[in-house]
Amino acid sequence: MKNVLVTGGAGFIGSNFINYILDKRDDYFVVNLDKLTYAGNLENLIPSEGKKNYRFVRGDICNAELVDYLFNKYKIKYVINFAAESHVDRSILGSEVFFRSNVIGTNVLLESARRYNVEKFLQVSTDEVYGSLGAEGLFTETTELHPNSPYSSSKAAADLMALSFHHTYGVPVVITRCSNNYGPYQFPEKLIPLMIINTLNNKKLPVYGDGMNVRDWIYVIDHNKAVEAVFESGKPGEVYNVGASNEMPNIEIVKLILKELNKDESLIEYVKDRPGHDRRYAIDSSKIQNELGWKPEFEFEEAISRTIKWYVDNKNWWERIISGEYQKYYQTQYGSR
Ligand code: NAD
Ligand code: TYD
Repeated sequence: MKNVLVTGGAGFIGSNFINYILDKRDDYFVVNLDKLTYAGNLENLIPSEGKKNYRFVRGDICNAELVDYLFNKYKIKYVINFAAESHVDRSILGSEVFFRSNVIGTNVLLESARRYNVEKFLQVSTDEVYGSLGAEGLFTETTELHPNSPYSSSKAAADLMALSFHHTYGVPVVITRCSNNYGPYQFPEKLIPLMIINTLNNKKLPVYGDGMNVRDWIYVIDHNKAVEAVFESGKPGEVYNVGASNEMPNIEIVKLILKELNKDESLIEYVKDRPGHDRRYAIDSSKIQNELGWKPEFEFEEAISRTIKWYVDNKNWWERIISGEYQKYYQTQYGSR
């Protein structure tokens, strides 16, 4: 049995990972430690609820006493750290909680991992640590780190701390740096769900700047299969980029969503640009493909259609979210449009 502490498992990507891995394997015992911030939602984990090899613990990864207690109680030998504040716009509105959860929280986990001699510590990171690309080129694992937002700088700090724990104490740390994810259960603040939900509600679609910023999109299941591959076979001390070679300017995605939902492009509204907005991300994932045999399985056209359909069919899930505290954030970020 692999006793794995999965943190942030009630969020978009972490819940997808837990549901996937517990469905596939019965040699994993998963303890899900999640603070249930605004982004955490236990409804995402219904398929895993009640399984005998699954436990949920509500708590903060910054709570060293609790983390140590869990390592001891559940004989934790593996860690996958998804827990983080994850939204760039929120990090621009206020950075402190990003530093706390993403940097201090990772440090707390690493300290326990060191004391309990874990056999693998996977830090889930992001391509945003590399900063912004011009029109050409791809991020590789050796691209210099140049994070530009409070979010990405906190993730870069966590990556460096994790690598230092490998170098200094021999903690078997591996890092994945993935590009932008999409799929079911993504919190409505992110580009794709926000645009789908606003379209369904006939609300304006706020496109930042000229809409020509480029992101490299990957379906969440493909990301999690890469996490699994790196967790199982990644070499300690190594970083693995994860992406599906699917670069698109934001405006193209917005137009595609409108088309799929048979709505008019007049809903598009160009708004003031995000401060410090990274222009382009694009990932070279040949290392994980060549060394670990992972490759993305989903085509964008099919997976985005599935995703749009999921939001159409699961209004209950997102209506509950957008009617609550999210309204306050939406007002602050977008005004009354
Ligand atoms: P999310 O915001 O949907 O979920 C984050 C989860 O972490 C939530 O359940 C939240 O309650 C929990 N959490 C936050 N702070 C915590 C704390 N202090 N203690 C315990 N739990 C806490 O985020 P996501 O999109 O699922 O991202 C998961 C991870 O993947 C993050 O580390 C993020 O940086 C990384 N990542 C995300 C993307 C993306 O496109 N979304 C791409 C690459 C990497
Ligand atoms: P986002 O989903 O926030 O991911 P990230 O900033 O981490 O890449 O945004 C994706 C892209 O979409 C990014 O270039 C910013 C842009 N964007 C908009 O144009 N309007 C919006 O309302 C949001 C949330 C994002």
